[in-house]
Amino acid sequence: MAAVESFMLRHQIHFTLNGQLLQLEGQHAFAPLSDTLRYLLRKTGTKVVCAEGDCGACTVMMARTQDQNSKGQLTYRSINSCIVPTFLIDGCHLVTVEGLQEGEKLHEIQNSMVRNFGAQCGFCTPGFVMSMTNMFEHKTCPSTQNVKNYLTGNLCRCTGYQAIIDAAKDVDTKKITPLAQRYALVHETAQLKALTQKSISLKTDQIEFFAPATLAEAVDFKSKNPDCRIFSGATDIGVQINKGKFAAQKQMSLHLISSLYEINLQQKHVRIGARVTLDRLQIFAEKHLPSFGQFLHIFASPQIKNSATLVGNLANGSPIADTIPFLMTLDAQVLVQGPRGQRSLPLKNFFKGYKSFNMDSDEFIEAIAFELPDSKNLKMGLYKVSQRRDLDISCINASIWVEEKNGQAVNCKIAMGGVGPTPLRLNQVESLLLNKKIDRQWVDEAKKLISQNIQPQSDLRGSSDFRKKMSEQIFEKFAKEHLQL
Ligand SMILES: Cc1cc2nc3c(=O)[nH]c(=O)nc-3n(C[C@H](O)[C@H](O)[C@H](O)COP(=O)(O)OP(=O)(O)OC[C@H]3O[C@@H](n4cnc5c(N)ncnc54)[C@H](O)[C@@H]3O)c2cc1C
Ligand code: FES
Ligand code: FES
Repeated sequence: MAAVESFMLRHQIHFTLNGQLLQLEGQHAFAPLSDTLRYLLRKTGTKVVCAEGDCGACTVMMARTQDQNSKGQLTYRSINSCIVPTFLIDGCHLVTVEGLQEGEKLHEIQNSMVRNFGAQCGFCTPGFVMSMTNMFEHKTCPSTQNVKNYLTGNLCRCTGYQAIIDAAKDVDTKKITPLAQRYALVHETAQLKALTQKSISLKTDQIEFFAPATLAEAVDFKSKNPDCRIFSGATDIGVQINKGKFAAQKQMSLHLISSLYEINLQQKHVRIGARVTLDRLQIFAEKHLPSFGQFLHIFASPQIKNSATLVGNLANGSPIADTIPFLMTLDAQVLVQGPRGQRSLPLKNFFKGYKSFNMDSDEFIEAIAFELPDSKNLKMGLYKVSQRRDLDISCINASIWVEEKNGQAVNCKIAMGGVGPTPLRLNQVESLLLNKKIDRQWVDEAKKLISQNIQPQSDLRGSSDFRKKMSEQIFEKFAKEHLQL
C-alpha cells in the first residue's frame, strides 16, 4: 500500500460558514463545532444547553459536498453542533441562525415565531428556528404531526410547544428561499471539492488525526495504527468526548471517501456504505423496506439521524442499538476491510461479547449488505420499548418475521436487543417454532421459549424480569397485530 505523498496532504480543514469559505487547523479542528462557532467564529446565536445531542439548542444546518445527489444537488440538513467535532464539517457548507436573516430583515420563520409568541427563551429559540428550517428545506407540509416530528430533537423546559407549533404552521412558505439557492455557492463548492481530494493530517500534543481521501489510505493507516478510533457521525463518540470518557490518541474519519456514501441497490442486493446516515437510510427504507422505514421514525431525532450512520450504530456495539435486530432478521453481512483485503461476515456471528467483535484491530467496517426480502406473505414486526416514545434509548427492541402457509409457520425469524450483552438472533426458538401450526398454543409456546432463551441484565432502563416480561409482550403484540391471534 503506497504511503500518502506529502503534496496530497492537507493540515487544515475547509468549509463555508454562512457563505464564506474558511479554514481551520490545529486544536481548533478538535473542538466541538458549537464551541468553534461560539468562541472562535463569534456566532453566538448557536446555544449549548445539554451538550449531549438531546435538546437541540445547538442546531445548525449543514450540506456535505461529498454527499451530492446524482443531479449534483446539495441537501441542507440539521445537526447537533455540540457533539460534532469541528473536523467532521470539513468539505461542508454550514448555515447558522445568523445566516438565515438578510441584513436587518428577519427570516420568515423568525417572523412567524415573533407573530405567534413562539420565541419563549433565548436558549432554545434559535434551535427551534433551525429545526423548522430543516423541515421547510425538505419541502414538508407543516401539518401538526409533521411539525412535531421535525421538532422531536428540540426541548423546551419552560412553557410548552403550542406557540412554537402554531408558528411553524403559520410560516408563509412562499417567502422562504431554499438555502442552496440563497447561498448559491457554485465557486465555493468547486473549491471545497478540489480541496477535499487531499487527505488530512492533523497533529496536536495529544492527538494524531488522519482523514484519508481513498480507501487504500484508510486501510494503510488502520493497519499501521490498530489502536486508532474511527469517527462516523460522532453521535456516540461526541457524547463520550463531552463527558470526558473518550481518550483515543489516534483518530481517523472516513468522510472524504465518496464511495462510502453510496446506497447501492442491484436487483435485490443492497449495500449500505459506512458513511450512509440514518436519515438517508430512512428514505431508502420507506420505499424498499416500509416496516423498517416506519420504525426509523422513532430512532432519535432528525438532527441525530442527519449525522448518525448505520455502521456507527453497529460498531458502537450497544446491545440496545435499534437497527441491529432488524439487520439480524435480514441475515445481513458485515463487509470488513483490512490489510488482508475485504471479507464478509454474517452479522449473527459478528458479536463476540459486550462491545467486542469478530473483527481484528487493524480492520474496520466498509459497508453492510443484505438481500431485500420477498415480503408478499411475510409478516414483519419491529418493536422498541422505551420510557418515552420519541428521542429515547431502548430498554428492549425486537424484529420478528413470520411467514404463514396453509396455517403453518414456513419461515420464522426472531432477533432482540437488550436481552443480553449483545443483540441476539434466537435461532433455537425459531427452529422449534418452524413448520408448526400457527394458533394460540403456538403463540404461548413462542412466548415461553423466548423468555427461557434470553438472559437480560438489570440496569437503569429495566430489570431482568421486566425485560423477560416485555419480550413475551412484544411477541403477544406481534401475534395480535400480524397473525390476528
Ligand atoms: C440524543 C441521542 C439519541 C440517540 N438515540 C438513539 C436511538 O434511538 N437508537 C439507537 O440505537 N441509538 C441512538 N443513539 C446512539 C447513536 O446515535 C447511534 O448509535 C448512531 O447510529 C451512531 O452512529 P455514528 O455514525 O454517530 O457513530 P460514531 O459515534 O461516529 O461511532 C460509534 C462507534 O462506532 C465506531 N465506528 C464508526 N464507524 C466505524 C467503522 N466504519 N468501522 C469500525 N468502527 C466504526 C466508532 O469508533 C465508535 O466506537 C442516540 C444518540 C444520541 C446522542
Ligand atoms: S446543546 Fe443540547 S443538543 Fe446540543
Ligand atoms: S423555550 Fe427555552 S426552555 Fe422553553
